[in-house]
Amino acid sequence: MQATMENFQKLMLFNLSSGEEKRVWQEDSLFHYCYNIVFRAGYLALYGTEPHQGADKEKANEQDRIHSNQVFHEFRKYDRLFPRLAYAVLPPKDKMEAERLKRLFWSILSVKKSWRKDNISGWISDQNQLLAENGVPEYMRDRFMFMLLWASQGNTGPTAFWLLFYLMKHPEAMKAVREEVDKVSRENGQEVKPGSPPINITREMLNQTPILDSAVEETLRLVAAPILVRAVLQDTSLKTSSGTEYTLRKGDRVALFPHISVQMNPEIHPEPHEFRYDRFVNPDGTKKDFYKNGKKLKYFNMPWGAGVSICPGRFFATAEIKLFVFLMLSHYDLELVNREEEIPAIDISRWGFGTMQPVRDVRFRYRLRF
Ligand code: HEM
Repeated sequence: MQATMENFQKLMLFNLSSGEEKRVWQEDSLFHYCYNIVFRAGYLALYGTEPHQGADKEKANEQDRIHSNQVFHEFRKYDRLFPRLAYAVLPPKDKMEAERLKRLFWSILSVKKSWRKDNISGWISDQNQLLAENGVPEYMRDRFMFMLLWASQGNTGPTAFWLLFYLMKHPEAMKAVREEVDKVSRENGQEVKPGSPPINITREMLNQTPILDSAVEETLRLVAAPILVRAVLQDTSLKTSSGTEYTLRKGDRVALFPHISVQMNPEIHPEPHEFRYDRFVNPDGTKKDFYKNGKKLKYFNMPWGAGVSICPGRFFATAEIKLFVFLMLSHYDLELVNREEEIPAIDISRWGFGTMQPVRDVRFRYRLRF
């Protein structure tokens, strides 16, 4: 958490104290901006940073900025090919490109190279150690590191994009979240003032944001659409709430798509296509309960899957998204260049692969608040 925080500062606010970044509007593409920053902060927090000695810190930071940006650009190339790669429908030229990218990442993230980095996360080094102890050869561990990069960085940036987009589209939501963020900063002695250094958001501060939590949850409800595949280990039957009973045979595979059955279900979430930032929170800040046919539900939002293989990165992902939005709202005014901007359609070729991506980017502008 602290590492991610420092990396966000390193990437977003590095020329704040130098006074270079004046209060002028800067324009950018929102999807690219969010994905780029969140990917790079997550990548550096998990896979480590450039080592340095004493006064070389700024040089190492600059190296991290350049290197992580290059990694992001290569990652996006792979990301774009991914749905067609998964369905095995890539034309030969793209197939060769996917192969090149895979090999590049096995090399960039290789176990050997990682020894040279500082601040590798405990999660990454433990995964490697566990595999090594179980006799998994080094070349396979390199490949596993790329799988983990994919799992850890493919969804968080796109989710951050949708959250900031919805906040800009819904001024009452933006106002409520910003007021909460400002209040938490003030109460923790971290208020942003003219000329002040970037705020340092602690874990404790992130635990005081019920409205932001609800906005994150609502964003995930709308845009996270994973297919959950489970193998049937013994003959059984599955009864749905509508009374239909399915016979499942040992060896069958079951694919669940909770985006439709749960997240977009109007019996659980009225007007399910609407973004309601406070859908998941009561006025007193406690979490809302959800019901269907009078029965309280355990699963009313399933962006992380469920059961044995529920996303192990969900707490990290949530903290990362919240940190990013907290920093953006604390330091910047944000607005859509086109105030009448329509919500971009989602790229339906990605159904089932996690957080949806928009078919086109959206222009926005930002400037320092103080
Ligand atoms: C918004 C961001 C994210 C979303 C929506 C998301 C969603 C998911 C989903 C739906 C699954 C499959 C769950 C299942 O089959 O039941 C999954 C698996 C996984 N996720 Fe995430 N994830 C996110 C971020 C992360 C992050 C940040 C990490 C690591 C730091 C991570 C690591 C993993 C891993 C390792 C698996 C495989 C787990 C297994 O098969 O046992 N994810 N994620």
